[in-house]
Amino acid sequence: MIMATNKYIFNDGKVIHGDCIHVLEQLPNDSIDLIFTSPPYCVGKSYDKYNTIEGFTEIISATQKLLVPKLKVGGSLCWQVGNHVKNATLLPLDFVVHKICERYSNLILRNRIIWTFGHGTHAKRRLSGRYETVLWYTKGSEYRFNLDSIRVPQKYPGKTHYKGPSKGKVSGNPLGKNPGDVWSIPNVKANHVEKTDHPCQFPVALAARFIKALTPEGGTVLDPFAGTCTTAISALELGRKFVCIELEEEYFRYSEKRISDWYNGTAKIRADVPAVPPKAGTAVATRPGNFL
Ligand SMILES: C[S@@+](CC[C@H](N)C(=O)[O-])C[C@H]1O[C@@H](n2cnc3c(N)ncnc32)[C@H](O)[C@@H]1O
Repeated sequence: MIMATNKYIFNDGKVIHGDCIHVLEQLPNDSIDLIFTSPPYCVGKSYDKYNTIEGFTEIISATQKLLVPKLKVGGSLCWQVGNHVKNATLLPLDFVVHKICERYSNLILRNRIIWTFGHGTHAKRRLSGRYETVLWYTKGSEYRFNLDSIRVPQKYPGKTHYKGPSKGKVSGNPLGKNPGDVWSIPNVKANHVEKTDHPCQFPVALAARFIKALTPEGGTVLDPFAGTCTTAISALELGRKFVCIELEEEYFRYSEKRISDWYNGTAKIRADVPAVPPKAGTAVATRPGNFL
């Protein structure tokens, strides 16, 4: 790893310290296979400089304008966001993002993926939020999508065609089924092995599904709001290259450790497997007498 004035350079990518609005201008056009990012989404985190929807709209619009030319034709742009609550009114931030993306005739929305998880804040006057979304756009109508790389096991693998010329033959795809657009992946809270000091990480597994399906081996993934560089870790795991940009010095510095740990084989990564319920008989799994 080389430390230039404001960047860490690794064998497979770089992390740049700065405002993505300035840094993106320096990146070559048509060089990125996938942009996967979770912007600051005005939920009151310390790095939320724009704590209003107007501010959010401004930063996404300005970034988007710079991002689209960096993407190769056939590449993908994925915005991962949650919901914003103001004056007790909930606004799904992907509504705002989509309004901005709609201005680009070369961006085509392919899926709105629901990322659902079991834990989060406990609401008292509405249902507790247990999902966020990822809007997946492609640049152009011909695009890379390797569905086979993210198939999941069939629920009924032995199911057969019940009529027609294939009657009696197994009907499912032996590689597994399409994973659908609702993904359950534990979020990075408390005891999650990937937890850093960053208040709003997404899991490596979430980025990994997109990177596998939307980039070639050796392709390049860009995250302009990189935080602690989860996207880079995911890209490294899958043999891809990365470009990460982060404004806050604390997270930029931390990313050097996280990525170096990956190269040293000591990075902690949670496999993309379902959460296991607590073991019966343990204290946390035991129902106090007054609980229903
Ligand atoms: C939601 S967090 C991303 C967390 C990341 N996905 C992870 O797993 O660690 C958004 C990040 O964008 C950074 N950020 C905010 N404005 C920025 C800007 N203009 N340029 C670059 N980074 C920025 C914040 O400091 C914050 O770390």
